[in-house]
Amino acid sequence: MERTLILLKPDCVQRRLAGTIIGRFEEKGLNIIAMKLIQVTPDLAKQHYAEHVEKPFYPGLEAFITGSPVVAMVLEGLDVIRVVREMLGATSGLIAASGTIRGDFSSSRQMNLVHASDGAEAAAREIELYFSDDEIHPYEPTLTPWMKAADE
Ligand code: CMP
Repeated sequence: MERTLILLKPDCVQRRLAGTIIGRFEEKGLNIIAMKLIQVTPDLAKQHYAEHVEKPFYPGLEAFITGSPVVAMVLEGLDVIRVVREMLGATSGLIAASGTIRGDFSSSRQMNLVHASDGAEAAAREIELYFSDDEIHPYEPTLTPWMKAADE
């Protein structure tokens, strides 16, 4: 089992797409084990996007991500980091394939609706940034026997 940090970004919440996108993750069979609505501060944005802070697009990215609340979530599942990134599609909604979340709902590179950790190291770091241990609630779904074979 793997975990990944998801942010439903300000454009997602403002456009009333949070329910639709949470629904896509649920339909896929992924487990939501933590979730909250939060206001990202400039300080948190700089920590989260540390690798982008020096990039020319960073000031716009910070203004966007701190401009309105986000929904932060931890998803758990088999190979969930790769699975979710494939569900999201390419970074830009203009390039993302049809059928992916960004391909279906976004026409922007910055306002691409959802953030997901890009690897195991990033996931561990980002989950710790957004959630304390007592906010994470793993559980065994009763549907598991109908979602995958016992040896998967
Ligand atoms: P995300 O997956 O959250 O990780 C970094 C974010 O920076 C990315 O989604 C985009 O929202 C944004 N981003 C990446 N590249 C650019 C760019 N060239 N111009 C503007 N925003 C970008």
